[in-house]
Amino acid sequence: MRIDIISCVLDLMRSPFEASITKRAQEKGLVEVHLHDLREFGKGNYRQIDDYQFGNGAGMVLMIEPIDKCISQLQAERKYDAVIYMTPDGETLNQSMANHYSSFENIIILCGHYKGVDQRVRDKFITHEVSIGDFVLSGGELAAVVLADAIIRLLPGVLSDETSALTDSFQDGLLAPPVYTRPADYEGMKVPDILLSGHERKIEEWRMEQALERTKTRRPDLFKHLK
Ligand code: ADE
Repeated sequence: MRIDIISCVLDLMRSPFEASITKRAQEKGLVEVHLHDLREFGKGNYRQIDDYQFGNGAGMVLMIEPIDKCISQLQAERKYDAVIYMTPDGETLNQSMANHYSSFENIIILCGHYKGVDQRVRDKFITHEVSIGDFVLSGGELAAVVLADAIIRLLPGVLSDETSALTDSFQDGLLAPPVYTRPADYEGMKVPDILLSGHERKIEEWRMEQALERTKTRRPDLFKHLK
């Protein structure tokens, strides 16, 4: 998979892709992440990328020309399955969207900044609009990192134990059950006996009960989506 991210503040996004799972995924050749500086496509000597909004609204708006140049250049090089715009008024990200996007070959993620992008960018180029929650960030960059991370860890071969993404919270519509490691007894706080029993079927039953219980108490809304 190839992910091209367009932004005017690339520094906000570098380190997450240079660490841990996403770094290893790139080293293994399972994903390519390319960051594109919108400013390089800016207008004139000042490489202008934003301007005042028409109608006297407060705040700057990213102009269509630099974004058009950048996206058009990428689209001339390869075909993209999705051009995603990160915005608080997009569809709220969930695990099934991450699963869907992880099946794509090439995607572009556009990060808004200031008051966002000229509406005509959205009309002309954007195929999906994604929010990471009902709150407003200073720009789309951190949201883009969240989206890219959620996608990359689902790509085949990225997680060392392939089943571990399958047992994540949300992957089956439920929250994940509690987990424990050594010591079995920490200052009197004991690991549930069942986990030490070696009885695989009973352990699986226990995990399912715990997942159901957690989901029921913490996220009753998720039950509505269970078939
Ligand atoms: N840009 C600013 N806030 C955002 C959010 N919550 N989700 C996605 N992009 C954003």
